[in-house]
Amino acid sequence: MPSPESTPPDPLRESRFLKACRGERTDVTPVWFMRQAGRYMPEYREVRSKVSFLDLCHDPGLATEVTVTAAERLGVDAAILFADILLILQPLGFDLEFAKGEGPVIHNPIRTAADVDRVRPMPDPEPLGYVFEAVRSIRSALNRATPLIGFAGAPFTLACYAIEGGGSRHYEKAKAFMYADPGAWDALLDRLVEATAAYLNAQAVAGAQVLQIFDSWVGNLGPDDYRRFVQPHMRRLFKALDPSVPVIHFGTDTGSLLELQRDAGGNVIGLDWRVHLDAAWERLGPGVGVQGNLDPVVLFAPLPEIERQVTRILDQADGRPGHIFNLGHGILPHTPVDHVLAVVDMVRAHRRRD
Ligand code: CP3
Repeated sequence: MPSPESTPPDPLRESRFLKACRGERTDVTPVWFMRQAGRYMPEYREVRSKVSFLDLCHDPGLATEVTVTAAERLGVDAAILFADILLILQPLGFDLEFAKGEGPVIHNPIRTAADVDRVRPMPDPEPLGYVFEAVRSIRSALNRATPLIGFAGAPFTLACYAIEGGGSRHYEKAKAFMYADPGAWDALLDRLVEATAAYLNAQAVAGAQVLQIFDSWVGNLGPDDYRRFVQPHMRRLFKALDPSVPVIHFGTDTGSLLELQRDAGGNVIGLDWRVHLDAAWERLGPGVGVQGNLDPVVLFAPLPEIERQVTRILDQADGRPGHIFNLGHGILPHTPVDHVLAVVDMVRAHRRRD
C-alpha cells in the first residue's frame, strides 16, 4: 500500500474551480463563461460553417475540438462539454430540430395528458452514448489540471420545451398544462428526472468533474408554484446524483426563488444580474457557493465600465470561499472576444482585500 505522502497531488482536485465548488479558499477567483464555446468566437463559427448544430453535437471529435479550443483560447479555469440541454429529448421520443434563425423546434410537442405516455422511460442513458464518448475524448485532450463540467437541463425547463414545442415568452402552454393536470405534470417530470439523473451520473463516470443543472426558465414561476410543481422533482434529481460530484444549480430571474432552490439542492447556486451578489449570498447562508452575476450585455460596454462591474462583483464576494466568477447567463452571439479575454485578466488581477 502506498503511504499517503507518496500519493502525488491530483491537479484536478487541487484546481481553483474544484476548490471553490467545495467551498475552499483559492489564490484568485476561478472564472469560466456559460456558452464560452459559441457563435461569438470565430473558431466556433468556422467549425459551424461546415456542419449543422445537431451534427456538431452528435460528433464527439468535433465536440472535443470546440470545447477544448474555447477553454484554451480564453485560458479559463474550467471547460464545459459542448452539447445542448435539449439532446436528451431525442431518445425520449421528441422530434428536435434547430431551425435556422428560429432556435429549437420540437415538432411533436406534448399537448394532452395522454401524450405523456409516449415519453419513453429512459432509466439507462445508453442512447446518449455519443455524449459520454465526447466527455472521454475531451478529458483526454484537455489540460490535466482543467476540470470539465458536464450538464443537463432541469426538468421544468425541459418540460417547457417539450410542451411549448420551442422557446416561449410567457410559457402559457406549459403553465396551463401544469395547472390543469398536476398528475400528468408530475408523471412527465418523473420521467424527465429519471432520465436526467442517469444521464448526469454517466457523464461523471465518463470523466466530468462537476455537473451543472440548467433551469434557465424557472424564474417564470412565483415561489408558491415553484414549491408545489418544481421543488419536489429537483430534490429527487439532486438526491439521485453521485454525492461525490459537485453540482451547480443554475437559473435566471430567480431572485424570489433562491432559498427554495438552495433547499432543493446543489453545492453552488447560480445568480443572474438582477440581484446583488452579497445580499443574495447572505440569504443563501453558509454551506453553498455562488456563481455568476455579471450581465452578459455588460460585455458590449467599453472596458472601463466592464472593469467597474467586475470589480463590484469581486468586492461584494470579498474573497469569501466558494465564489466562481461567471456571467448571469450565456455569452451572446455578437460579444467581442477581446472583452471576454479582458474579463479573465481582470478577475485574475483582483486580489483580496485582507
Ligand atoms: O459553451 C457552452 O456553454 C456549452 C454548450 C451549451 C450550448 N447550449 C451550446 C449551444 C450549453 C451548456 C447549452 C445549454 C442550453 N441550451 C440552455 C441552457 C442555458 C441557457 O442559455 O439558458 C438552453 C436553454 C439551451 C437551448 C438552446 N440551444 C437554445 C434556446 C438555442 C438557440 C438560441 C441560440 O443561442 O442560438 C440553442 C442553440 C445553441 N446551443 C447554440 C450553442 C453554441 C447556438 C447554435 C448555433 O451554433 O447556431
